[in-house]
Amino acid sequence: MFYPEELVEEIRMKNDIVDVISGYVKLQKKGSNHWGCCPFHNEKTPSFSVSQQKQMYHCFGCGVSGNVYTFVMKYENFTFPEAVKALADRAGVQLPEAEESAEMKKKAGKRARLLEVNKEAAKFFYYQLRSPHGETGQQYLKKRQLSDETMHRFGLGYAGKNGALLVEYLRKKGFEDGLIKEAGLANFTERSGFLSQFWNRVMFPIQDINHRVIGFGGRVMGDGEPKYLNSPETPVFDKRRNLYGLNFARTARSGNIILCEGYMDVIALHQAGFTQAVASLGTAFTPEQAKLLHRYTDNVLLAYDSDGAGVKAALRGVGILRDEGLTGKVINMKPYKDPDEFIKNLGCEAFQERINQAENSFFFEIRILEGNYDLNDPEDKTKFHREIAKKLCEFKEDVERENYLQAVADKYHIGFENLRKLVMSYASQTGLVRPVERPRSGVQQKNHPEENAKKSQRLLITWISDNPAIYQKIKDYISAADFTEDLYKKVAGRLFEDLEKGNFNPAGIISMFEDEEEQREAASLFHTNLPELTTVQEREKAFHDILLAVKKNSYEYYTARMGTDVNSTEQVIKGKKALEKLAKTHISLD
Ligand code: GTP
Ligand code: MN
Repeated sequence: MFYPEELVEEIRMKNDIVDVISGYVKLQKKGSNHWGCCPFHNEKTPSFSVSQQKQMYHCFGCGVSGNVYTFVMKYENFTFPEAVKALADRAGVQLPEAEESAEMKKKAGKRARLLEVNKEAAKFFYYQLRSPHGETGQQYLKKRQLSDETMHRFGLGYAGKNGALLVEYLRKKGFEDGLIKEAGLANFTERSGFLSQFWNRVMFPIQDINHRVIGFGGRVMGDGEPKYLNSPETPVFDKRRNLYGLNFARTARSGNIILCEGYMDVIALHQAGFTQAVASLGTAFTPEQAKLLHRYTDNVLLAYDSDGAGVKAALRGVGILRDEGLTGKVINMKPYKDPDEFIKNLGCEAFQERINQAENSFFFEIRILEGNYDLNDPEDKTKFHREIAKKLCEFKEDVERENYLQAVADKYHIGFENLRKLVMSYASQTGLVRPVERPRSGVQQKNHPEENAKKSQRLLITWISDNPAIYQKIKDYISAADFTEDLYKKVAGRLFEDLEKGNFNPAGIISMFEDEEEQREAASLFHTNLPELTTVQEREKAFHDILLAVKKNSYEYYTARMGTDVNSTEQVIKGKKALEKLAKTHISLD
């Protein structure tokens, strides 16, 4: 980690988690915790809890948990250093500035250099557009009814007729040709040397969620091929995992995100006040992008072109959204081609109406399907109904399927029972009879010893962190080595060390990990769902079982490694003794 650990801890301790989260979420004290509606998923009744004692948060609804750093990272989409900086500012802690930039440069290496060169290129285009040479670009964008403010907000720029100017500018700024090429900003050609392929175009810098320029799209001003020229993929430009406009849309908090096809659509929508609009990057919408959207919303509205290609893309899109567990709806753009044209012609109120009337994705699919059949022809009609039945079979949950069955039967005037029979017959024909419900976690665990072992280790850590006093009673039986998962071992080691020093500090443990995924996992160890037991006897038995399970697993783990790992033999001998003793010992929870 690049900031010294003591500093990270100091800053964390100066930012009480209840104070910080109260700035984002309305919290109410109930019992020993504070409660509110989770900002990371949609809910109406509070299941998000913040513990002052643990200095951690946990949502019982969606399972997120962490400390004050992970909260700010998640909410603001900050990287770890960014979260440290924000919280340091908040607490009035001075960060070592000078060292920071020197260290940072060294560490971030290639990616940082690529981002820097992109940023410079964006500046170059930006100033070109606003210089006398940029007149053509200005005219074009004005013709498309973009205000100066909008152009500024999206950092729009202009690449003039000479593709050598950008290269010259970047070289002067100290960027080497290799880097410029790797950033996809210029290419070598035998005939003309090292030139940018971006020339005579208006330029759209593409930003990631942290407003960093990761690539460019350039549009010809008028007709010409290709209409849009996009940067190639680079180490910082992953077209599958970014969305145009998401840097603004992620804080729009409008309850939905509008997914469009084009950059111009996004810009026009934002200008009209729909700041929740995003677009994919000149490529088809991907499952990775759906996942990204899911971080911010459960509802995605598709505002794709109304032409054949747009409908086809929308059909693909709703499938991807459904797979990701998002609710998809389709906005009708007719009689216009795309959101940009719609807004220009009918304005934002009309568009808001279209949002309100957006079509449920299932009905959208069925309606498109309908177009393939002549419903006056009995045979075609039957085929159509069969297709509906087939689609209904895709719903995994009985209730959901039944609801849609009812709705679609009503809408298309099909007898409910008849359609139902069709669904059943289709299901049995294909051997697809009622898809089995997905196994609930917990049910299948019997068959997964490894998952079982991990679970008891998690339970033990949660139990100890909920009742730190218990550590003294069990420390003779258990040590960090009994935690067979690497990350668990680290967490337990640090937790035990802290408890030994009388310094219980779970929130600090999370910041030991640099990687966001690891932080998430470490935090989850403190929030396993403990069994709800009422009597002391039940609780003591459960705790004893957990302790024994951890110990047993550890014993088995090291037994299997004897002979290959020098420490194993010692662990096995110690483990055997501890197991025997533990089996006979009563640990009281008072
Ligand atoms: P305008 O014509 O400027 O309004 O653009 P649009 O946003 O309506 O674009 P269109 O619907 O034609 O295309 C949607 C998106 O597809 C664009 O924003 C680009 O990302 C991408 N795209 C369009 N044309 C091309 C092309 O010729 N090459 C590539 N690589 N991408 C393109
Ligand atoms: Mn358009």
